[in-house]
Amino acid sequence: MSFVVLALAAAGAPAVTGAPARADTGRPPIREVVGGKLAGNGRFPWAVRLSMGCGGALTAPRVVLTAGHCVGPSGPNDRITVTAGASDLKARSAVAVKSVEVYRSPDFVTETAGDDWALVKLERELVLPTLPITAEDVEEGEFTVMGWGQTREDSTQQERRLHYATVPTIPDEECAAAYRRAGVELVKDESICAGRHGVDTCQGDSGGPMVGRDRTGRWVQIGIVSWGLGCARDGYFGVYTQIAKFRAEIEEATRRLS
Ligand code: ARG
Repeated sequence: MSFVVLALAAAGAPAVTGAPARADTGRPPIREVVGGKLAGNGRFPWAVRLSMGCGGALTAPRVVLTAGHCVGPSGPNDRITVTAGASDLKARSAVAVKSVEVYRSPDFVTETAGDDWALVKLERELVLPTLPITAEDVEEGEFTVMGWGQTREDSTQQERRLHYATVPTIPDEECAAAYRRAGVELVKDESICAGRHGVDTCQGDSGGPMVGRDRTGRWVQIGIVSWGLGCARDGYFGVYTQIAKFRAEIEEATRRLS
């Protein structure tokens, strides 16, 4: 999964500025990022690809939840094309629809500062399953992350097929301590850190969903791919927007855009 900082600078999100070129663990960065698997068509039917090189999820038939840093400011916007209905973007089942409006968190400044979420209103409703936001304030566990982004930190290529991986969450304090050494202050109450050795999201995965199963076994969205220092580096974990913190705001804005 994932894409790289430089390649997708258009998507906003450069890597952490001023960060060291490699983790200070003495070990070279892992090159085989994400360590993900290919998702067959239909496995994550609400996962969508956005044309600026980000991911997203259908939170309503006509609304996509993505990262704030993937889009411009709130307002009319017909510049985004959303590809949905297929994990292989070239599959015949893939449908492309245009955006008509963007609603970005009014508190969004930059991805490392929290509030990294946005909604994209589509020109029409899609007949596809939607992904509900978690009803509980979960922030710990093993979650599934996915995207069409780079599969290695130094790749310049985005993937044609959706990749996914399962990652454990990392305590906020541990994650914050690592990023503090790199000069970035983690916004702990709005972020979930997750990853394990060699497995992470990467550039191009931004905006895509982090999901878990609720008590009835159905997928719910827990996070949004936001940022990280490089990809799958030891000691530096992927940072995800903790959407339970924004549930009321996101749900209200989704209703308004539907
Ligand atoms: N900001 C990146 C993007 O625009 C996502 C980076 C995620 N990085 C990570 N190491 N988990 O695609």
